[in-house]
Amino acid sequence: MNDVGHRHGGIAPLSTEALIGPVIDASLDGVVIADLDGRIVRVNPAAEAIFGHAPGSMLGRAIGEAIVPAHLRAAHDHGMARHAATGESRVLGKRLELDALHRDGHHFPVEIQIEKIEQGDTQVYAAFVRDLSARRSMETEVARQRELLHQQEKLAALGTLLGGVAHELNNPLAVVIGRAALLEEALAGTPQERSIAKLREAADRCHRILRTFLAMARESRPRPGQVALADLLAGALEFCGYDLRNAGITVATDFDPDLAPIPGDHDQLVQAFVALIVNARQALAGQDGPRRLRVTVRAGQPVTVRIEDSGPGIAAAARARAFEPFFTTRRFGEGGGSGLAVARGIFESHGGSIAIDAAATGGCTIIVTLPAGKEAA
Ligand SMILES: Nc1ncnc2c1ncn2[C@@H]1O[C@H](COP(=O)(O)OP(=O)(O)O)[C@@H](O)[C@H]1O
Ligand SMILES: [Mg+2]
Repeated sequence: MNDVGHRHGGIAPLSTEALIGPVIDASLDGVVIADLDGRIVRVNPAAEAIFGHAPGSMLGRAIGEAIVPAHLRAAHDHGMARHAATGESRVLGKRLELDALHRDGHHFPVEIQIEKIEQGDTQVYAAFVRDLSARRSMETEVARQRELLHQQEKLAALGTLLGGVAHELNNPLAVVIGRAALLEEALAGTPQERSIAKLREAADRCHRILRTFLAMARESRPRPGQVALADLLAGALEFCGYDLRNAGITVATDFDPDLAPIPGDHDQLVQAFVALIVNARQALAGQDGPRRLRVTVRAGQPVTVRIEDSGPGIAAAARARAFEPFFTTRRFGEGGGSGLAVARGIFESHGGSIAIDAAATGGCTIIVTLPAGKEAA
């Protein structure tokens, strides 16, 4: 070996500990050298960092007890004994991915290659180790993102399909509403009047749900106009009505009769309020006891909307972060943490605001303000 350096240009032979020691210490991979009994005789700082040990504290310890987790220890001891007796080994010279034991007791994945090195009478095992934790969690995250993307693509496709269906329904529904209104006039004062009024109300309700649905499906190009807030909220509640009923939630509304239309983007406001109603529904569905949702609108400058639920409320720690994009306390697939962030963006772009009522006792109360129109002011 020593000749090699000389032959290729007269470099000093790399055989002394004085030279090899610092080389091992500088390695990015962990290096653990053990004698034939499995006692650790040398470790570099990378290995100490990987396994969480203080400098020097691994020396002299049995490798099996220091870095091999309990469930692999028997196999490890067995392998060492067999190698000593027969010279056979299933691990030497191979790249393996194994669980390793951290000093604090947790297990983590490593890539490891163990070599037997002989120099004269001296024989050692040298293990080269890489911590795979970061790579594994990155792989998990990539898989999670891929799954999420897949779900989103599916939802987007479904949204487009349903959007088309909703548009198709709009025209016949307009006929039903129009004819019902005409009939209602024509049948005023007759025994059929009540029936036809019910028919028109039901058709109106379908129309609000459809309009809310189309608002939810629409992309984000702004469309300013005049918004009848009470109508919009009734539509949003009806849109979520099926889920609310299924979760056994009692809905109460209290809309100020003096409320004039406010300037705003109908579809965007629908998206924001539906996000708040969905949050309330999720909060209520997860708890026992009374499940109440109350939506209140007060005219004024600004107009104030309160959305109160009798759920568990938002913990103080989460309150500060609730409006951050991607902040969520939900399980994977139940929410992406964008509801409140997007709602805030929409209300603020209307010159309004959204806040969690800190004074509310029990449950969660969201307060939204929106500027009233000029006339109203
Ligand atoms: N009405 C509510 N009751 C209790 N917690 C809520 C309520 N609304 C929001 N939160 C909390 O705020 C977090 C962020 O909400 P949001 O931005 O809508 O994202 P997501 O609903 O996707 O988690 C939720 O994960 C939840 O912890
Ligand atoms: Mg949400």
